[in-house]
Amino acid sequence: MGSGNIFLVGMMGSGKSTLGRTLAQRLHLPFADTDRVLVERTGVPVATIFEIEGEAGFRRRESAVLAELARGDDKVVATGGGAILSPDNRVLMREGGTVVYLRARLEHLWERTRHDTSRPLLATADPRATLAQLLEARDPLYREVAHVVVDTGTQSATTLVSRVIAALRRHEEEERH
Ligand code: S3P
Repeated sequence: MGSGNIFLVGMMGSGKSTLGRTLAQRLHLPFADTDRVLVERTGVPVATIFEIEGEAGFRRRESAVLAELARGDDKVVATGGGAILSPDNRVLMREGGTVVYLRARLEHLWERTRHDTSRPLLATADPRATLAQLLEARDPLYREVAHVVVDTGTQSATTLVSRVIAALRRHEEEERH
């Protein structure tokens, strides 16, 4: 695989962190997760950052961590679902490596997030509708920033990771021609 970071983007529940860890192992690259870095640095959960600093405060921290990770050695970076909202973040990822959009259907995303209380944006009266709105609003941004789109569903992590690697290789081939 060529050089540069691999950024994983996609909705909450699309499996960026799980896939990212396996992908990094297969490619012998380090792995980083922007949310995880934020939680380690602040010592509090993402929901608490939202509570104290609001979404705007969280986004500022997220952008700073992303920029820092993008500057370092090549790695696989799992981003938070909303990292693509900032145009600067999109440019940073698009130019700083290869961006993979893990695209998932609403039903799948809902299955994977419905019992989860750690995501502040889904703490609404109708979290499924919120998820649907977020997907609709963000899907164009994920597609805009992505070099590669991989559909995810119920397949195992191993199968998915092989498909991502195949898609990355195809992309690299296309870039060469
Ligand atoms: C968010 C997604 C979360 C986390 C925060 C906001 C979003 O990350 O960054 O709760 O705006 O979609 P995951 O995509 O890893 O759940």
